[in-house]
Amino acid sequence: MSKTKRHTLTAALPYTNGPIHIGHLAGVYIPADIYARYLRNKKCDVIFICGSDEHGVAISIKARNEGITPKQVIDKYDKMIRDSFNEFGISFDNYSRTSAKIHHETAQEFFRDLHAKNIFIEKTSDQLYDEEAQQFLADRFVTGTCPICKNIEAYGDQCESCGSSLNTSDLINPKSTLSGSFPIKKRTKHWYLPLNHYEKFIKEWILDGHKKDWKTNVYGQVKSWVENGLQPRAVTRDLDWGIPVPIDNNNGKVLYVWFDAPIGYISSTKEWAKKKGVDWKPYWEDIDTELIHFIGKDNIVFHCIIFPSMLKASDRYILPKNVPANEFLNLEGNKISTSKNWAVWLHEYLVDFPEKQDVLRYVLTANAPESKDNDFTWKDFQARNNNELVAIYGNFINRVVVLTHKYFNGKTPKPNNFTSEDNEVIDSIVCSQNKISDSIERFKFREALKELIALARLGNKYLADREPWKLIKEKPERVCTILYVCLQVSGHLAYLSEPFLPFSSKKLLKMLNLKVADWNNIKGK
Ligand code: 2FM
Ligand code: ZN
Repeated sequence: MSKTKRHTLTAALPYTNGPIHIGHLAGVYIPADIYARYLRNKKCDVIFICGSDEHGVAISIKARNEGITPKQVIDKYDKMIRDSFNEFGISFDNYSRTSAKIHHETAQEFFRDLHAKNIFIEKTSDQLYDEEAQQFLADRFVTGTCPICKNIEAYGDQCESCGSSLNTSDLINPKSTLSGSFPIKKRTKHWYLPLNHYEKFIKEWILDGHKKDWKTNVYGQVKSWVENGLQPRAVTRDLDWGIPVPIDNNNGKVLYVWFDAPIGYISSTKEWAKKKGVDWKPYWEDIDTELIHFIGKDNIVFHCIIFPSMLKASDRYILPKNVPANEFLNLEGNKISTSKNWAVWLHEYLVDFPEKQDVLRYVLTANAPESKDNDFTWKDFQARNNNELVAIYGNFINRVVVLTHKYFNGKTPKPNNFTSEDNEVIDSIVCSQNKISDSIERFKFREALKELIALARLGNKYLADREPWKLIKEKPERVCTILYVCLQVSGHLAYLSEPFLPFSSKKLLKMLNLKVADWNNIKGK
C-alpha cells in the first residue's frame, strides 16, 4: 500500500426502482466491501460511501407501472436496498439518498459553479417529443435501435447491450415508451457539458497515464470512446422528476440523473462528515487521498469520462486513482434481468438460506466477473459451499477447536520444539497474508480468496498428516506443538477471512477468544 494518507471508496449508487440481486453484489458491492474492510484492518483512514440513486426516468417509469408516485417508489426500494446491504454486511460508512436536501444543494451548487465558470454550452435544438403524452422523451422514455451494435432496445441515453453512451437523436426508429407512439421533434433549450474540450485531458490522464494499472476492460472502453471522438452532452432534461436546474426561468427543467448521481458520492461524504463532526473536504480535495470508484461495466463512461470531466471543470476535486469496474454476472446462462424477473433477489435468498450470507459472499467472490462475464449456477453454489467453504475452511477450524477442547480444556497449549514442517506452516501464514494483501490491492479478489482457502487447505493437510490423536498418549508434548501451530493457522484464518466472510470471521474470533487483528502486525507465531 502506498503512503496515501486516506482513502475515499465509492460504490455505484443503486437505482431505487427495484430491489438488489446477486449481480449487484458480485459486480460492485462485495469487491468494494472487501477492499474497505481490508483497509480498515490495515488501520488506514478510509470512508466507504454509497446511497440510493433516486432520480431519472427509471424511477418515473416504475411509478407509472405501479400506479404510485415516484416518492413512494424511492421510499419503498430505498428501504429494501438498505436492509439488503445491512443483512449482507456491506459496511458502508455512509449510505445516503439523492433525494436528501444536502444532495439537492450540493448538486445545484456544482451546476451553478460550472455555469458561472462558463463551462456549459447553452443550445436550443430539436428533441424527441411525445404528442400523446405531451412530454419530451429523455433517456429511458425512448427506445430505438442502437446505431453502434443495432440492438433494437437501446435507451435514449445508453445502449445496455454494447455500453455506448447515446443521445436520443442517435437512435434509429425511436419509439416512446410512454405511449408506444413515434415521436415528433420539438425545440427546447438545454445545457451541455462540452466533453470534446476534455478529450486531451482524458487521453493524457487515462490512456497515457493508466495503461498499466487500470483493468484492461476499463482502459479498452475509454480508449474506444476517445478514439470515436467525445461529443458535448446535455446535462439537463425536460422532466418532472429530478433536481431543478438552479437558474432563473428554468422552465421546469431538471438536472440529468447522471449529472447529479455521481455528485451523490460527495454529498454522502458531507452527510457522513456532519454526523462525525469532521471535515469532508480532505476526502475529496486533498491529493493525498486515494479515490476509488467501484462500479459495473455499464457505468464506465460515466465514471471515467463524464464525472471526471465535471471534476476537472470544477478545478477543485481530486480524480479517481482507479475505477476497477467488473463485467456482468449471468444467472444459469442467461442475462440477469429485473424486468424479466430473472435474478436471485437478496431478500428472497435470505428466506431460503437464512444466516447464509457468507456462503453467497464466498461464491460470488470465488466466481466474480472480474475480467469477463461469468455465470452463477446453483450447482456451482452447492459445490463451492460443500467442497471449499465447509470441507476445507470450516472443517479445519472445527477439528482444531474440538481437539483443543478435548486435550487442553479449550486452552492454547504451550508449544515445544518446532520442527521444520511446523516452521514451514507458520511461515506460510505471513506469506499468505502478503499474497492476499497484494491481490486485494490489485483488485484481484478471486485470487485473494483462493489464497485464503489455500492456507486453510494447508492447515487441514498438516493436521491430517501429523495425526495428533495417535500421539496424545505417548508424545503429549508433541501434540502441544501441533495444536499450537493449528491454532495459529486458525486464528489467522479468522483474521484474514474478515474482509471476505465477515460473519464467519466474527464467530471464529469469538470462538478463539481473539479480537480483530491489525493486519500490519500479523506475525505468524
Ligand atoms: O447504473 C446504476 O444503477 C446507476 N444508478 C449508478 C449510479 S452510480 C453514481 F454515479 F451515482
Ligand atoms: Zn449498442
